[in-house]
Amino acid sequence: MSMHTNAPLIEMSNVTKFYMMAREKTTVLHEVSLKVAHGDFLAIVGPSGSGKSTLMNIIGCLDLPSEGSYKLEGMEVTGQSDNKLAEMRNKKIGFIFQGYHLLPKLTALENCELPLIYRGLPGKERRMRAMDALERVGLGQRMHHRQNELSGGQQQRVAIARALATNPPMLLADEPTGALDSKTGMEVLSMMEELNRTGQTIVLITHDMEVAKRASRTVIIRDGVLTEHVRERRDGDETYTGPQDGSQERIVQQA
Ligand SMILES: Nc1ncnc2c1ncn2[C@@H]1O[C@H](COP(=O)(O)OP(=O)(O)OP(=O)(O)O)[C@@H](O)[C@H]1O
Ligand SMILES: [Mg+2]
Repeated sequence: MSMHTNAPLIEMSNVTKFYMMAREKTTVLHEVSLKVAHGDFLAIVGPSGSGKSTLMNIIGCLDLPSEGSYKLEGMEVTGQSDNKLAEMRNKKIGFIFQGYHLLPKLTALENCELPLIYRGLPGKERRMRAMDALERVGLGQRMHHRQNELSGGQQQRVAIARALATNPPMLLADEPTGALDSKTGMEVLSMMEELNRTGQTIVLITHDMEVAKRASRTVIIRDGVLTEHVRERRDGDETYTGPQDGSQERIVQQA
């Protein structure tokens, strides 16, 4: 597993993001505060246009907050240079996207070796680590297949293995089941649950509350405002009070 520090993996305090359009300020994230511990499986759920991708880009060090503090394993992200951001991304985050983003001419194994090439690892070690990651997602028998020789669910599992290959502290997934039918989507989610059980921290972004239920914790984003979704437990069974009524939501900023 990845190196753990005492600091939370994610610590956001009052993160605001705004854009200037025709001299008008459009605020898309309003004072978002969020803590994610190592080992968490967090879902961020919200409707279209609510600010999910904006928040993901900040969490993933692809974009910077306009205001507020974002610490990733204790290191301040706000105000960092592009080079530093790229380094933090490379060391700390494994990205998984809806559309897999695999290179079609490469085999599953070669796709998983790519991020390790950027790390400058020697060929033999690359291969070992890529094979290990593919084993972890149950694709030990499919390593030499190319994209068109794999099902959608298998392609997404290759993308997850590629994200795992660098052993990042955080997997960051944007609509990882968005391109899959519901059964295959659930299989991919079960695999992510299994990875989380073995210690992998996962942050999953989705518009689908059913998908979010597979995480151990959910926050809801609406119009750029983040709230924690509180789950009720009855006799060990989890029941979910809908985000629709808002009555079960606790404003994270006030927590
Ligand atoms: N570069 C930008 N300039 C101005 N406004 C932007 C910019 N990027 C995003 N927005 C606005 O910010 C809001 C949030 O967008 P975002 O892409 O984060 O939503 P989302 O929750 O990911 O939606 P979806 O589920 O449709 O992907 C939207 O109203 C969008 O129009
Ligand atoms: Mg989006």
